Amino acid sequence: MKMWAGRFSKEVDDRVNDFNSSIRFDCRMYEQDIKGSLAHAAMLAAQGIIPQEDADAIAAGLEGVLADLKSGALVFDPGAEDIHMFVEAELTKRIGGAGKRLHTARSRNDQVALDLRLTLREEAKEIKALLLALISELRDRAAEHLDTVMPGYTHLQRAQPVTFAHHLAAYANMFLRDVGRVSDAAGRMEFCPLGSGALAGTTYPIDRQRTAAALGFTAPTANSLDGVSDRDFCIELANAIAVIMMHLSRFSEEIVAWCSWEFKFIELDDAFATGSSIMPQKKNPDVAELVRGKTGRVYGDLMTLLTMMKGLPLAYNKDMQEDKEAVFDAVDTVKLCLKTFTPMLHTMTVLKENMRAAAAKGFINATDCADYLTKKGVPFRDAYKITGGLVAECIRRGLTLETLPLEDYRAASGAFAEDVYGAINLETCVKGRLSEGGPSPDAVEKQLALIAKFLEEN
Ligand code: ARG
Repeated sequence: MKMWAGRFSKEVDDRVNDFNSSIRFDCRMYEQDIKGSLAHAAMLAAQGIIPQEDADAIAAGLEGVLADLKSGALVFDPGAEDIHMFVEAELTKRIGGAGKRLHTARSRNDQVALDLRLTLREEAKEIKALLLALISELRDRAAEHLDTVMPGYTHLQRAQPVTFAHHLAAYANMFLRDVGRVSDAAGRMEFCPLGSGALAGTTYPIDRQRTAAALGFTAPTANSLDGVSDRDFCIELANAIAVIMMHLSRFSEEIVAWCSWEFKFIELDDAFATGSSIMPQKKNPDVAELVRGKTGRVYGDLMTLLTMMKGLPLAYNKDMQEDKEAVFDAVDTVKLCLKTFTPMLHTMTVLKENMRAAAAKGFINATDCADYLTKKGVPFRDAYKITGGLVAECIRRGLTLETLPLEDYRAASGAFAEDVYGAINLETCVKGRLSEGGPSPDAVEKQLALIAKFLEEN
């Protein structure tokens, strides 16, 4: 019989039981559920709402249930309605009458809101740690490649020279903002909904400050209706995760491209690539592709949460049970991706010569050629046009700006002199981009120092 069977004259249909049950996915919150109950029971006794000896029996019983679940001596009953009912029923089975006092002045509505916050608070910490490890890896690899010239792209067309360090530091900055977003979402989980009751608080003289403090929260939530029905924190965390996945997916796309023979900028370690069942020559960047693919599923999780909450009246509605699978899937997916992505970066080989060769081919020093003329007094728009003509000439004759003879330069503009070759040299072009945030080794070193500072502070 159900714990709430009092007003019912029939057993619940088996199909409804299965349909209704959430133990399959909320069982992962067992430790948080038990910790919440321990704090609640201690508060009830301190406030004189239940006898101290009952609270002691509850505490001992709950510790036993926790230990047995951890060791595997106790397994979840798939027929249970949810983790909250399962723990309470098991407790009462073990300690009898006192167990029945645990749920005084509490509802599953404030209980589940609490458990989910406690769970996601921990998950946010883990995600943050994984992001920091990724940023640290990016920083280390970037430090090795301050002088590794590669083409920078816009529209996937070779545009201007950058370095591999500059490129990696760009991603480090994205993940750094992601740490901020995860921390921000976690910050709003720091309020304890316990004591909101089903929706309207309780007539018992509970002490919400005490339970909030005991569970490590900043304060109790301010409004009981909001306390039980707020799932913003799930949505915010899923949103932060979706943005992390979007960044990982962009990076993955580049890794897939860089692994192709068309680019060959990097080679993945054999341990982080896979082969084909039919084509013996293949080495596939499956990890990057899967990360890119899983991004779609995490976007789906976020959309599930937003849509599930849309139009829900106050306060708790059973729809909200659907929050867990979505947010847990987002959490598990991003952790899995980060755990695999970082070592993939750590073990990849950077093919510097290929990057340099690609940079030499795409006229990516054309802007520098125009800037050279501008510095000699030619207005930029004229310089731009003259350089465009020279590029067209090079293409016609199969030359590059580096190999175009000086007389051709001089025929286009008298402002050109021998020193143009120094000005359009790729290394010069990169080193000259000293502007803050730019690709010159000095500028990137400063960016890496900021990243290192962030890592120290987080
Ligand atoms: N399993 C439920 C959930 O995840 C717990 C809360 C149920 N409350 C209720 N009144 N039915 O949301």
